[in-house]
Order: sequence, then structure tokens, then C-alpha cells
Amino acid sequence: MGHLLEIQQITKVYGTDTILSDISLTLEAGKALALTGQSGSGKTTLLSIIGLLQQATSGKVVVNGRDITKSSAEEQAKLRAQYFGFVFQRSRLVSSLTTLENVMLPAWFARSGKDAEKYARSLLARFELTHRMNHRPQELSLGQMRRVALARALVLKPAILLADEPTNDLDPALAASVADSLLQARTNGSSVIIVTHDPHLAARADFTVHLHQGRLSAASCTGQAAAASG
Ligand SMILES: Nc1ncnc2c1ncn2[C@@H]1O[C@H](COP(=O)(O)OP(=O)(O)OP(=O)(O)O)[C@@H](O)[C@H]1O
Ligand SMILES: [Mg+2]
Repeated sequence: MGHLLEIQQITKVYGTDTILSDISLTLEAGKALALTGQSGSGKTTLLSIIGLLQQATSGKVVVNGRDITKSSAEEQAKLRAQYFGFVFQRSRLVSSLTTLENVMLPAWFARSGKDAEKYARSLLARFELTHRMNHRPQELSLGQMRRVALARALVLKPAILLADEPTNDLDPALAASVADSLLQARTNGSSVIIVTHDPHLAARADFTVHLHQGRLSAASCTGQAAAASG
């Protein structure tokens, strides 16, 4: 059995700046990886390369044994919807849509609206947002917006959930509830990659890897080794 996700020798260069050097790691289904590192170390860049939002200069992203970096733009759009859920550093909700509509957006794109709506409603209930279902983002608190963004990322039950500083700026209780929901996605077999500066959240993941000046090192592994080199 191969790994769900394999990142092979990813390098990213902007002009003369090497942002990521030779990043390799693997992740099994149902595991959570915390990605830590100073501001500017390349965490968001790596996450967006994994999720096909940006192209690497070289290297591969392999999902279920398939090199997804080799596909056409059209195919990549499908693969992105098929495999990945994103929680962005900023929530990026659509201001003209309600809570429920924002959560349903990926399902509409994937044309699975009917099946997903029940699940969207159950996620919103779990995140204590049922009473905010028909509100727009500007009528929500920061923590509520985060939970809407998280529900949106989960609605298609992605194989790989990518979360960029999901608990930043949240009070401790809310941060814990967002972290619980993220880590709980493992029970559906989702793998989770969480970029975080929060040592408490990192400690709750199955592994932690650390980026320093575009290079990866295994900071701690509470399970099997996640970093293939480093
Ligand atoms: N489009 C771009 N062109 C040139 N340099 C870029 C571009 N995007 C990002 N960078 C640079 O790449 C480096 C890594 O950026 P990235 O956003 O991945 O860092 P990060 O680890 O997520 O930081 P933070 O913790 O502040 O979010 C930074 O030095 C940034 O200035
Ligand atoms: Mg970032």
C-alpha cells in the first residue's frame, strides 16, 4: 500500500530567491501533520503547491500513486476539487453569500449540491452555526467565519485537508474547537496538514515538520517518520 500523499523533491524559485529547496515528505490516510516555521519560511507556498494552487519549479506531488503535477490545468481543477479542502490564512468567504451558501460553494462546483446539503447543515450544526445559517460573512464574528471556512473545506469530505494557520487570532476556547474539528476529520480517513505557529496545536498532530529557510527538518514525530529526508 502506497502513501496517500507523497511530496518529492519540491523546489520553488522566484527570480533569484529559492523559497523551497528539495522538500520531500509523505503522509498516510487519516494522519495529521503540523507544519511549523518562521514567517517567510515558505509554509503557505508549500501548502499551495501541494494543493495545486501554485506550480513548483521542480518536484512532484503524488496522490494515491498518481503524479498530479503533470496534469493539464483543466484536470488539475478537477483533482483539486476531488482531493483537497482548503482553509486559507484569511477565511476568504464570499461576502454576497450566506453561511450555508458559502459552505455549499465547492459542492456546487462539483455538481453534488443535493448530496452535500444535508452534510453541510450537519457540519454547521456541529460548529454551532445553525442560528447563523442565513447570515452573510460581514454579520459573523471572526471565529464564526473561521468555522464557516472550515465547514466549506470539509463539505466534500476531502482526502487531504490543508489548513493555513486556522487558529490564528482566535481566543483559546475557539482555537481549541477549530483544532478539534480539523483533527476530527482524520476519523473519516482524511489526512490533514496544518500550518501553525501554535505549539499546542502542533503537539496534537501525529507529526510535526519544521521549515527553516525553505528546508524541511523533522521536528518531532509521535508516530512513524513523516519527513522522507531532512
Ligand atoms: N509571488 C511571489 N514572488 C516572490 N516572492 C514570493 C512570492 N510569494 C511569496 N514569496 C516569498 O516567499 C517566501 C515564503 O512566503 P510564504 O508566504 O510561503 O511564507 P510563510 O511561511 O507562509 O510565512 P507566514 O508565516 O508569514 O505566513 C517569503 O519570503 C515571501 O516573500
Ligand atoms: Mg503563510
